[in-house]
Amino acid sequence: MPTATSAPLTKAVLTEALTGLAAAQKTLSPWLFYDARGSELFEHITQLPEYYLTRTERAIFQKHAPALPLHLIAPVTIAELGAGTAAKTGIILNAFADHQNSVLYQPIDISASALDEAATSIAAHIPNITVRPQVANYITDRYIIERPPNHNVLALYIGSSIGNFWPQEATGILRNLRGHLQPGDFLLLGTDLAPGDHKSIATLLAAYDDAAGITAAFNRNILVRLNRELAADFNLNAFAHRARWNAAASRIEMHLESLTAQSVHIAGHKFTFAEGETIHTENSVKFTEQSLTTLLTHSGFALDQTLTDANHSFAVTLAEAV
Ligand code: AVJ
Repeated sequence: MPTATSAPLTKAVLTEALTGLAAAQKTLSPWLFYDARGSELFEHITQLPEYYLTRTERAIFQKHAPALPLHLIAPVTIAELGAGTAAKTGIILNAFADHQNSVLYQPIDISASALDEAATSIAAHIPNITVRPQVANYITDRYIIERPPNHNVLALYIGSSIGNFWPQEATGILRNLRGHLQPGDFLLLGTDLAPGDHKSIATLLAAYDDAAGITAAFNRNILVRLNRELAADFNLNAFAHRARWNAAASRIEMHLESLTAQSVHIAGHKFTFAEGETIHTENSVKFTEQSLTTLLTHSGFALDQTLTDANHSFAVTLAEAV
């Protein structure tokens, strides 16, 4: 099936590839993962036994969502950055739909098709919710958060998406969000936690290098995409998936390691790789209570409470705009 690709998007992919691969440490930005196939592979990742993040966050929501409306001054409208298909959000929406006559839900995402899916499934399951989707890149585009009269805003930024951006960009994203809010509004932030007594580095590494090889396929899909969209000539068998724990930066890094000395061509540009040289494709920052507090404080929020699972694997933090 041919993939329809818009000209501006292809241009953004080309710019990203030419810039990233010209750097001393070659990089390709993680947004490149999410073409149709990559989104499918990510969905598969969230269901893997090793990838504890999604199911742990969902369990935290299931346990604590019913009490959430009690912490906020009702009524609220709910806005979500990077909502995607909003699969987990339904749990939170349900809790508020039980407490209010009606709820305005404002999902923001770069993918129109994901937002369509979100709107359809929410409308089918929760009748007293109005969905107002907005197609926007919450990092580069302006977006709107509507405030019905006398409503407070609950902003959601879940799924540990913020872990891809650290630290300046993460603070920038939250400050920008804070600019849409008023004191009395809240943020619910989902973050994966650093290894400790309950979670080992091995557990973390396995989550990013699963036995079935789905994460490897997800990582390599970037090269498949560049070959298809930019007519690049990456030899897919000559790059291996690597997940590394960077303790100093408290993050998992994903790389694609060149298994031989080789060169690759993209749009008339030649890029050479030494054996063992890598393309850095993703950072996934793992937080501590302290780094979370710093991030929130620097962004104009005060931490209200952190909800976590018994293993302290994942955190869902409620913070108030101040
Ligand atoms: C979507 C950024 C939260 O960092 O865990 C999953 C992406 N990469 N497996 C993460 C991802 C490899 C994921 N986030």
